[in-house]
Amino acid sequence: MHESKNINLTPFNTLALPGQAARYQKITTPEQLAAATTANEKRFILGGGSNLVLNGNFDGLILHMAIPCKRLLKEDAESFYIEAGAGENWHDFVQWTLQQGYPGLENLSLIPGTVGAAPIQNVGAYGIEVGELLHNVTAWDFEKQAFLTVDRSACRFGYRDSVFKQQGWHLSGRMAITSVVFRLPKAWVANTRYADVTQELAAQQISTPTPQDVANAIIAVRQRKLPDPAIIPNAGSFFHNPVVDHNVAHALASQNPALPCYPQPDGRVKLAAGWLIEQAGWKGKNLGPVGMYEKQALVLVNRGGATGADVRRTMAAVQADVKARFGVDLTPEPIFL
Ligand code: EPU
Repeated sequence: MHESKNINLTPFNTLALPGQAARYQKITTPEQLAAATTANEKRFILGGGSNLVLNGNFDGLILHMAIPCKRLLKEDAESFYIEAGAGENWHDFVQWTLQQGYPGLENLSLIPGTVGAAPIQNVGAYGIEVGELLHNVTAWDFEKQAFLTVDRSACRFGYRDSVFKQQGWHLSGRMAITSVVFRLPKAWVANTRYADVTQELAAQQISTPTPQDVANAIIAVRQRKLPDPAIIPNAGSFFHNPVVDHNVAHALASQNPALPCYPQPDGRVKLAAGWLIEQAGWKGKNLGPVGMYEKQALVLVNRGGATGADVRRTMAAVQADVKARFGVDLTPEPIFL
């Protein structure tokens, strides 16, 4: 176990923003967390850096989660219980589950980031959110100096939300997720409700898809729409899709018949932020070195040499234009450090 000083954080955030960490330590076993730090110091738990806006230098300790583990923990008549270390790359983990014959996570293929970060904002795509298939989360609590296990119901999952965000545990560095157990039902049914996925499978002439076929279709759809961070630095969807009252959605839809609206179980309506941003004129538009991607307006991209301040300037301009045009507030998805 080794601590480094004045580490360049640019390679550790997918927006490739500049910044240095005063102190940095790679964590490869859960026990290292207990030894790494005292309860009260400023720290940040870093995963894949794919949901992060660096504001510049960080004067605390970065704990970079690299705990490995991919294994079948147990199985019963209904389900496989799969354990994964927080440091595993999410996409590689999903592909491993499919190769091993544990289907269920295929719709979440190619989401950037790590296993340990996935529950924090309850990552979701193409009709599945990770919380639906999660059994429990184990985390180190810096305040209590103890490991705790959080069951699925206690995770309080919502759209891009969990107890880890609600309580500010992640941002304050109070807790570090060390591993996650998934419960994957043995009775597998393909989830191909999304038109993009159905169309991709039809184009490949697949009528009875295997889990790997679904994963491949989703990988193809995502590669067409979303920029590869290794080529065009980005943090995936930059804003949440706003969830508004039914009356607000109704009024907006009557003025804008093409507005995509998704009714929610609680009666409210989710709107497509990408559509709002495109209509506000931001698809493919830049402000300085930061713009909104030309194939998916919800993705903010670093065109080269951007700083955290450049990101915040473009973010604010997009929010102001969408608010002026539609009266809707857009909330950013990433964490600002
Ligand atoms: N749309 C536009 N213009 C755009 C982008 C989207 O008109 O520039 C419209 C689309 O035509 C569609 C609707 O908006 O009618 C929704 O678009 P899409 O299906 O691409 O999904 P999204 O709502 O923009 C969400 C997630 C993505 C996830 C996809 C697929 C959020 C914030 N984003 O995007 O997640 O991959 O659904 O399920 O919920 C991520 O969070 O990083 C991410 C990529």
